[in-house]
Amino acid sequence: MYRTNNCGELNAAASGKEVVLCGWVQKSRDLGGMTFVDLRDRYGITQLVFDMESNADLCGKARKLGREYVIQVKGAVRERSNKNPRIPTGEIEIEVTELNILSSSDHPPFTIEDETDGGDELRMKYRYLDLRRNPVKNNILLRHRVAKTTREYLDSLDFVEIETPVLVNSTPEGARDFLVPSRLHPGNFYALPQSPQTLKQLLMVAGFDRYYQIVKCFRDEDLRADRQPEFTQIDCEMSFVERDDLLDTFEGMIKHLFKEIKGIDFAGPFIKLPYSEAMESYGCDKPDLRFGMKIKDVTRLVKGHGFTVFDGAEYVGGILAEGCASYTRKQLDELTEFVRRPQIGAKGLVYMRYGADGFKSSVDRFYPAGELEKWADSFGAREGDLILLISGDRKQSLSALCELRLEMGNRLGFRKKDKYFPLWVVDFPLLEWDDETGRFFAMHHPFTSPRPEDLKLMENDPGKVRANAYDLVINGVEIGGGSVRIHDSNTQKLMFKTLGFSEEEAQRQFGFLMNAFRYGAPPHAGIAFGMDRLVSMFAGEDSIRDCIAFPKNNSARDVMLETPSVVADQQLKELGISINR
Ligand code: AMO
Repeated sequence: MYRTNNCGELNAAASGKEVVLCGWVQKSRDLGGMTFVDLRDRYGITQLVFDMESNADLCGKARKLGREYVIQVKGAVRERSNKNPRIPTGEIEIEVTELNILSSSDHPPFTIEDETDGGDELRMKYRYLDLRRNPVKNNILLRHRVAKTTREYLDSLDFVEIETPVLVNSTPEGARDFLVPSRLHPGNFYALPQSPQTLKQLLMVAGFDRYYQIVKCFRDEDLRADRQPEFTQIDCEMSFVERDDLLDTFEGMIKHLFKEIKGIDFAGPFIKLPYSEAMESYGCDKPDLRFGMKIKDVTRLVKGHGFTVFDGAEYVGGILAEGCASYTRKQLDELTEFVRRPQIGAKGLVYMRYGADGFKSSVDRFYPAGELEKWADSFGAREGDLILLISGDRKQSLSALCELRLEMGNRLGFRKKDKYFPLWVVDFPLLEWDDETGRFFAMHHPFTSPRPEDLKLMENDPGKVRANAYDLVINGVEIGGGSVRIHDSNTQKLMFKTLGFSEEEAQRQFGFLMNAFRYGAPPHAGIAFGMDRLVSMFAGEDSIRDCIAFPKNNSARDVMLETPSVVADQQLKELGISINR
């Protein structure tokens, strides 16, 4: 038997017991007569003691142990004289009588402690060592618990987990596909699924009724902290449901996860915020509602006072930062620089302080105190508050205000990691106009059904049609999204027509699905959650990378596997591919 116990479970109750432990040498301390070794495994750390007096040979051997050696020890559990209340095994130590070195180790390239000296790139290269560290290891264990709890919940509601293929054709999610060349069919390619969207709909046609899958998805898109080229969805679909049946089911799942994983109960249902309201009041479709600070449209109020910037703007809007009238020039300059950054793109920032000495703005010349008072009234400002305004093109200004609101939320400490505000954003537009190609695109995907009452607008004013689509947003992060699907071929045909597909094109790309719908398609709806995002939110991490065992870096590389990489000419030849090196 390699071990009788793990390194995280022994306490004073086990005093006197003979045990065998295995693990990695975290560190050792040589105190002359005694050598102490911290032995680590997945479960914790146990202190080992080697006593020079009782066994000099053994102690000599222990002194030679390097960091990360894998060892097996035999010995008796004894209560420590100097207890460590911070770790579960802190009451005891093992008086070692036998030591076997199972594996030696090179000196690790960074310290394997909670606080490490290793930089990002180095830790990624030696990810298996990084995974030995508690913060990373705990995230991976948390991920397991999230997956397990999800499966239990869905299983209890009769959902069936069904695997769908990984070698498929393109699915229309809007990102680029990763392609896999076919050796048997030179010049032909599989695509890795961006999601199992069409396949899960086919499973509904097949009658499976309630499907889910914890599934890898692949998208060749620009990376950000919350995006990986391969990521995991909790992908779900249900038949014979309307929107709210589906939302209730998955609100239940999210609540269950919060309860099981974080011990948090949410009272009452999640709010359902229409997309148009989200855009208007928060400047984006994934608002962080841990704090208020709604955006206010003051276009009409501020125009016509000779300030050309406002007079010429399509939109002027702002936020109220309570208690911030004391912001210094430097702080206001910082905020101006913040909104002017190219990613945010505002031209500038106008402010108004409501101080003890009255109103003071950066545009006093155009707005006398009487006018500024109207600003204050419209925002509900009180003495001590600060108003920040941005103007310009409506869409861009709202998006800049969204960023400014989040920045102020950060500065004022409103975005605490242990506070959660989930909501549904509903009624997204069905279509999105693309100036470059001069056509409409499906905002979600082409199988999303329009709101029935908006169907009449499809022919003449398609941009106004709202989709029966929804996102789950928590703390400003899009955690999941889905829709009620089109299940009748007439609406589907109309949708393809509006998207500019010819009948032949639609048949070529989606014929398999449209044909299936000719054989009895049940009304159905679905949703997919980004599991990496969900886990990193539970873990309080900013990047989903920290919750993936072997993630890609920001340039989509795995620096440990050194991939993507060149392949042998012979391999390419077999695939009928020629490239210029
Ligand atoms: P959608 O494209 O909105 O919908 O994706 C669902 C959820 O997946 C997560 N997600 C990602 N996570 C990490 N890295 C990425 N690159 C990435 N892209 C998306 C997000 C998102 O909310 N088939 C539809 C779902 C449906 O209609 O049922 C779909 O894939 O959390």
